[in-house]
Amino acid sequence: MRQVMVAGNWKMNGSSDSIKELMAGIKDGLAAISKAEVVVCPPAVYLPRVSGAADGTSIKVGSQNICDEDSGAFTGEISANMLKDVGCEYAIIGHSERRALYGESDDLVAKRFAAARRNGIKPIFCIGESLEERESGITNDVCSRQIDAVIALEGVEALADGVIAYEPIWAIGTGKVATPEQAQEVHAFIRGKIAALNADVADGLRILYGGSMNPGNAKELIGQKDIDGGLIGGASLKAEDFLAICQAAE
Ligand code: PGA
Repeated sequence: MRQVMVAGNWKMNGSSDSIKELMAGIKDGLAAISKAEVVVCPPAVYLPRVSGAADGTSIKVGSQNICDEDSGAFTGEISANMLKDVGCEYAIIGHSERRALYGESDDLVAKRFAAARRNGIKPIFCIGESLEERESGITNDVCSRQIDAVIALEGVEALADGVIAYEPIWAIGTGKVATPEQAQEVHAFIRGKIAALNADVADGLRILYGGSMNPGNAKELIGQKDIDGGLIGGASLKAEDFLAICQAAE
């Protein structure tokens, strides 16, 4: 049985005060959540603080990115072992904003995935197509290409303890959510692709949906056979909404 996961991607939002309040709010509602694995991914500067606040609770902490190198002259980057040192268990890798705005290629994303794994951090590996790609009918090809970059570098077994987040770019932050059927179709394709290489890995692999998930649509999305949770942006910034999605995942 795959444990359902709800991960909050706070992106570049928040302040010391707002994050304190958000963490307190999430902690207050945790008693009602028994099945879902709850993860929060704050901006890097707040990681030590958020890890401290999560200490002794079931909340797991993740980073929003990771360097592909382990140490040295890489100004502005943060290594996997540093993230581990401040309490990260997960790392979002290859988010579409990183790919589109900061030029992260499939190959670089695969290297970041590898760096996470060799340092004991579990990747939340993001893939997904643009609106143009969907309209051209190449959604599966795009997802396949993104996954293949990781498989080529690390082998399919590397996905065994990982998480894939399918995030159609046209649904991120737009309020335009994929229908449960649209999302399920891609999730089933992804699992089928992995199953053709290794059935056990495919069976254990958690595939999250991301893109305008909110308390109103979470239950139906997560209710789909191959959707094992959500990667939540906007709705993860309000404890009440984030907790409502966690509850929908139960
Ligand atoms: P959104 O973002 O929920 O605000 O659409 C999701 C994401 O980018 O991970």
